[in-house]
Amino acid sequence: MTFLIYALPGNHEQARALASQLEADIGELEVRHFPDGEAYVRVLTNPAGRKVILFATLWHPDTSFLPIAFAADQLREMGVKDVGLVSPYLAYMRQDKRFKEGEAVTSATFAQLLSSAVDWLVTVDPHLHRRRSLAEIYSVPAAALHAGPIIGEWLASRMESVLLVGPDSESEQWVKAVADVAKAPYIILEKIRRGDLDVEVSVPHADKWPDHTPVLVDDIISTGRTMVETVKHLQATALRPPICIGVHAVFSGDAYQALLAAGVTEIVTCNSVSHPSNSIDLSRLIASGVEGLLRNKEGQ
Ligand code: R5P
Repeated sequence: MTFLIYALPGNHEQARALASQLEADIGELEVRHFPDGEAYVRVLTNPAGRKVILFATLWHPDTSFLPIAFAADQLREMGVKDVGLVSPYLAYMRQDKRFKEGEAVTSATFAQLLSSAVDWLVTVDPHLHRRRSLAEIYSVPAAALHAGPIIGEWLASRMESVLLVGPDSESEQWVKAVADVAKAPYIILEKIRRGDLDVEVSVPHADKWPDHTPVLVDDIISTGRTMVETVKHLQATALRPPICIGVHAVFSGDAYQALLAAGVTEIVTCNSVSHPSNSIDLSRLIASGVEGLLRNKEGQ
């Protein structure tokens, strides 16, 4: 049975890249909004006899979720037993704890909603910090793939003498994976976040690597504050001008411009969220993740 991939709006380029890795076809899906803002979804390609994937990154999840749920239900109406979701960026992973009384733990609620809408999920580097795996909150089979090795290969093929820098303890999982492949040293800093735009990062001690280029690596670049604060410290060292690598180019508001204005020479991201900084293609990783998840699922 061959794959049929339906791309939600804004996901066509990445869906085509995945289709070429999986030797899949692209299905036609119409998604638009009525004048009152409600979503309209129509499946135009018959999914009969195909393994079906919805491709929708969950950047701006509040508006992406309902079209995914509507499309999945309609595909089931048309006879599809298993509707898979490839969502290279999985949203709502950072509120994994009630930090203040009364706060909604949105990662858990969102996981329940998505698990009720689709039959399996493949994503890349979800923000697993206090939770060890997606299975703690997702009730459908869910694969969390890791972009670190691909980022490491990208770095090793382009740069020498780099010092990887992780801005906080959570980032060590990504930074170490990149460092292992790029065969580069790394340091991990400490971060205190007091508010959305109020971030303090510890001063790096990098005297051991005077001729190195610092490469900041993080999973998500959202407001850019974490990277900007780290870059400010790095500029006070003897290191070369830094470059920044993020897995997910979320870039809220003017974050991208703020990072460039801070003196970063290059900003590089993976294509889990479409952005001009995308340089690292995840389709090969995702294709093998989809095949692996389905092999495990079918073997059960
Ligand atoms: C948080 O723990 C994440 O790993 C990132 O460091 C964070 O999401 C970056 O956010 P921002 O760009 O808003 O500082």
